[in-house]
Amino acid sequence: MIDFTFQNSTKIYFGRTALDNLAGEVRRYGTRVLLVYGGGSIKCIGLYDKVMDILRGENAQVWEISGVLPNPRLGLVEKGVAICKENDIQLVLAVGGGSAIDTAKAIANGACYDGHPWDLFEGKGSNDRVLPLGTIVTLSAAGSEMSNSSVITRESDMCKRGRNTPFNLPKFSILNPEYTFTLPPFHTACGIVDIMAHMMERYFAREENVELTDRMTEAALVTVINNAPIVMEKPDDYDARAEIMWAGALAHNNLFSTGRTGDWASHKLEHELSALYDIAHGAGLAIIFPAWMKYVLEKNGEKKLSQFARRVMQVPENFGDDRATALEGIARLEKFYRSIGLTTTLHENGIGESDIPRMAERAIALGGGSLGFFVKLGVPDAEAIYRLAL
Ligand code: NZQ
Ligand code: ZN
Repeated sequence: MIDFTFQNSTKIYFGRTALDNLAGEVRRYGTRVLLVYGGGSIKCIGLYDKVMDILRGENAQVWEISGVLPNPRLGLVEKGVAICKENDIQLVLAVGGGSAIDTAKAIANGACYDGHPWDLFEGKGSNDRVLPLGTIVTLSAAGSEMSNSSVITRESDMCKRGRNTPFNLPKFSILNPEYTFTLPPFHTACGIVDIMAHMMERYFAREENVELTDRMTEAALVTVINNAPIVMEKPDDYDARAEIMWAGALAHNNLFSTGRTGDWASHKLEHELSALYDIAHGAGLAIIFPAWMKYVLEKNGEKKLSQFARRVMQVPENFGDDRATALEGIARLEKFYRSIGLTTTLHENGIGESDIPRMAERAIALGGGSLGFFVKLGVPDAEAIYRLAL
């Protein structure tokens, strides 16, 4: 186990009555509120009206940034930053999934920075404070409600970049599983894959003697796998939605990083699929993660991959040697992704061999010359993984 610092300051309000706490938070942080949301799902589910009623009840003045797209774009961040600067916004409130939340994070940071908000994503500048940020979550997936990350795409070159900073931690996040009942099966499934990926990126680490962190992660993964078929079958099953929602927040709040160094290559390889082909992040991960596993298995990955196969994918102890067990675990993972309605190959998404060199170059360049820690990848490795995903 390596030394670590763990701090996650986001206050979580969880459950059917969680929204009751919004009024108090508005009183705490201020009544000049910028509301950030997506294409309208929050209106369809009646959440917009509920939030506005609460804000009106607090005599809040509300500005709005709406129309955030999945794989959120820089343009709306620029607009939001301008609104904050011109109107002395006191609280940025995101209502929606990871895209709305990440946009709100980029706005809250950009509002406290004199230059262009993209500088912060490129590491060309820094802010020394941030506007208070709150979130109301309607999609269990990105874990942005408790993460220190924000991921934004610049339209001019479709460059998708993440920025990690403690300033991205929301002051509070409101999680009511009922808000996720209306999610279409595709987004439910993408969310499940993303949640599991956040756990697996941290799990596949080289550090030894991280038993507690390993077993916490395995328990969370098994919980998601057990509850996935329930929510796919019965979208309004509160208890199953609740298990997945809480797992989604824990998956990305860095608890499962403690004592070890996560890998994150699969995420970076996936970001190219989202950026270039506008594939949903979770759908891209269902394609990339099994391919990454097959590749790193051959690079001294047998021990951890076979542990994953036995403890998470329930491959029997007597199945075979570590390599055979690991391969069976990967096969079961692919089967699981397919069972929730996702594809696991690039071809099924219209992406062919000729696209691979460009994606590999871009991914490795964004990683600063390499990606990953479980196995360090260069351009030829990235190409090989994309090929395994064909
Ligand atoms: O735009 P609306 O109308 O709200 O519809 C959304 C959107 O079309 C819909 N939706 C959300 N809640 C719903 C609903 N539809 C019906 N009922 C509901 N209750 O779902 C669609 C997808 O929403 P989006 O926010 O894009 O999904 P997600 O939460 O998966 O976020 C994806 C983004 O998060 C980034 C991804 O790269 C991607 O850009 N990530 C952010 C992370 C972070 N900040 O920590 C970590 C992740 O690894 C990830 O990279
Ligand atoms: Zn993710």
